[in-house]
Amino acid sequence: MTHFRYQQRELYCEGVPASSIAEDVGTPVYVYSRNAILDRYRELQDAFPQALICYSVKANANLAILSLLRDAGAGFDVVSGGELYRALAVGADPEHIVFAGVGKREDEILYALRSGVGMLNVESENELSLLAVLAKREGRQVDVALRINPDVDPATHRYITTGKRENKFGVDLETARSLLARKDLFGRLRVRGIHVHIGSQITSSDPYVVALARVLEFISIARGMGHDIDTIDLGGGFGIDYGGEDLASAKEMAADILPLLAKSNCRLVMEPGRFILGNAGILLTRVLYVKDHADRAQAVCDAGMNDLLRPSLYDANHKIWPVRVETDEDQVDVLKMSVASGGRATDVVGPLCETGDFLGLDRFMPGLEPNDLLSVFTTGAYGSSMASNYNSRPRPAEVLVTGKDFAVVTRRETYEDLVRREAGFVSR
Ligand SMILES: Cc1ncc(COP(=O)(O)O)c(C=O)c1O
Repeated sequence: MTHFRYQQRELYCEGVPASSIAEDVGTPVYVYSRNAILDRYRELQDAFPQALICYSVKANANLAILSLLRDAGAGFDVVSGGELYRALAVGADPEHIVFAGVGKREDEILYALRSGVGMLNVESENELSLLAVLAKREGRQVDVALRINPDVDPATHRYITTGKRENKFGVDLETARSLLARKDLFGRLRVRGIHVHIGSQITSSDPYVVALARVLEFISIARGMGHDIDTIDLGGGFGIDYGGEDLASAKEMAADILPLLAKSNCRLVMEPGRFILGNAGILLTRVLYVKDHADRAQAVCDAGMNDLLRPSLYDANHKIWPVRVETDEDQVDVLKMSVASGGRATDVVGPLCETGDFLGLDRFMPGLEPNDLLSVFTTGAYGSSMASNYNSRPRPAEVLVTGKDFAVVTRRETYEDLVRREAGFVSR
């Protein structure tokens, strides 16, 4: 998190004071560090030098960020026609796009076929049959990866667990085997890959090692059935530091994963999202009002669950801290900032009409006042991409910082934007 640090009692993103962004652009605003994004991408590529890293667009779909990662050499993992549109809009090489997703519509599959995406990750028998029909109709050869559900517990939040038997994703090993026996389906489809994605915010290599053992066993079965498997798509899921996690580094993950892959003769595809973007972004919000309760303060902010859903959806714990602080200490670890005395228990809540609308509950923080600027840390991934217009609130602006400069890469929504799609439907 070195690209966000306190200097002279003030939070900086790279060389730009966070407060100057808030003053220029207003709040709420997401702020991303270009160098933090690139550092994390390179960290992963260094740890897995042979892998094709397909950045998972769902984590943060901003075009400026996609274009930054494309320039750095990334491919893309997309899960909808909209994400594919975004990847193509920044000039991604279609060969370096994998199209995953449990519920692709026919029009989305056709869009993928016509765009020439490198690999479609198939998750059910119905989908495979539809794909076979469409590939024939379009007269195209299509490379496919079969997403298997390895029934592995990734030890993460149940909403982001995706590789257990009861989850909706992929097919179990028995079904996968019977699908591969359907010779009628494979005229224009070539199954070249096995795909797994077992969950998100995974902090150790153990679940990957278990999943990979099952994948490798399955690959030898598939090859025995005549399928020329040359790709393992390991999905995403590497965890990040939200404040206090005990985490395996990318290099440590690689040390456990790569030797297993070595004998498979397969290329490796990875689909990281959170790992690259999570710690590269913050959300700036202003305190509107402070209410005093007997046992705590409530700071009502101008950002809420429509801007950042993770606390409400997953009980996610994001470090929240004032942008201006009392300490003189430079270069402190922002995720470890705390008050020695004079602080109090504080609920940091949003302005929406929901009790579940909060950014953080029961936090020990310095005394807050109206107009204070707060930073919600580690919100680069699954922040803006999950934002909504609930309560008819315009979605926030996004800013990308490079050194001492910053650029607005998504303008704040306006009230006109909110009603644009309904224009012409008002009866007078
Ligand atoms: C298929 C697939 N790949 C990759 C990802 C990215 O996961 P993460 O952001 O944890 O790396 C997800 C997240 O849900 C996913 O569903």
